[in-house]
Amino acid sequence: MRWILGVAILLAGCAKAPDVAHGRRIATFMGCISCHGERLDGHLFEENADFAIAYSANLSRIVPRRSDPELAATLRTGRRPDGSALWFMPTFAHRAIDDADLRDLLAWLRSVPPSGKDHPAIVRGPQFALALKAGFQDSASEAERLKGREPIETGPATERGRYLTRLACAECHGPDLHGPKDPRPGDAPDLAVAAAYGLPELTTLLRTGRARGHRLVGLMSEEAPKRLHALSDAEIADMHAYLEARAQRR
Ligand code: HEC
Ligand code: HEC
Repeated sequence: MRWILGVAILLAGCAKAPDVAHGRRIATFMGCISCHGERLDGHLFEENADFAIAYSANLSRIVPRRSDPELAATLRTGRRPDGSALWFMPTFAHRAIDDADLRDLLAWLRSVPPSGKDHPAIVRGPQFALALKAGFQDSASEAERLKGREPIETGPATERGRYLTRLACAECHGPDLHGPKDPRPGDAPDLAVAAAYGLPELTTLLRTGRARGHRLVGLMSEEAPKRLHALSDAEIADMHAYLEARAQRR
């Protein structure tokens, strides 16, 4: 009898329904909702006729037309099923998502009812070619180029925190969290700065956008309350432990 029970428990484990609420949190802290909208219906994303007119895709209508493996491949490679590359998607950061989180994320995307209309494809302006020459890349090529540039490993105890920083912070702080090589004012710095933060201070920054000393810090303060607030206490603690360990390795 006991082995039958064992098999039953094992099967129940495999068939566990995806966690839609967790999927929504992931979509929040990975920025899907910031860029594609609360109803995932997309909006004008880049409005500079000289450079490009681009919309973030209406996922509420596109997702039902795609299979899970197709959507997984798009998120991990930056290409649609027809092979065309996406622009402006931070695929280099998203591709780190593991299978369990991806399953919950896709379950939540599928739970959002279709709304709005499909948006036109990107229209390139005269400056677009110049931007390409200066190094601007589509999401697929960028992810390829940055393959292998990852936050340093600091051991199994802090691996969860490292993983979460890739999903939640790398889009702005860079694939290896080092920030840009030649930072300009307002750019996201090397996350070594986080070593000066205690856990309560980091929690306040991610939940409210207020940096140490109650400062408002540009884009970070704008985006934290929109997306990073969705990180749980446990996830923030994991990231804090990783960022401390990372800073000590430098
Ligand atoms: C920085 C903004 C940004 C973020 C963050 C972002 N997207 Fe996008 N996404 C875009 C833009 C812009 C496009 C349109 C790209 C194009 O037309 O070339 C797009 C396109 C897509 C497409 C392709 C749709 C099609 O045409 O087939 C999918 C799928 C997608 N996003 C899913 C997601 C998911 C899921 C997340 C979160 C994990 C996410 N995006 C996060 C900006 C973003
Ligand atoms: C949407 C982009 C974006 C994301 C996502 C993001 N950051 Fe930032 N972050 C910034 C920018 C930009 C700055 C610099 C702001 C300034 O000084 O004007 C910054 C600054 C910071 C600072 C320094 C604040 C200070 O004391 O001056 C810390 C710490 C920080 N970010 C932590 C994080 C962590 C941890 C994550 C992931 C959980 C994260 N950020 C995700 C854009 C982002």
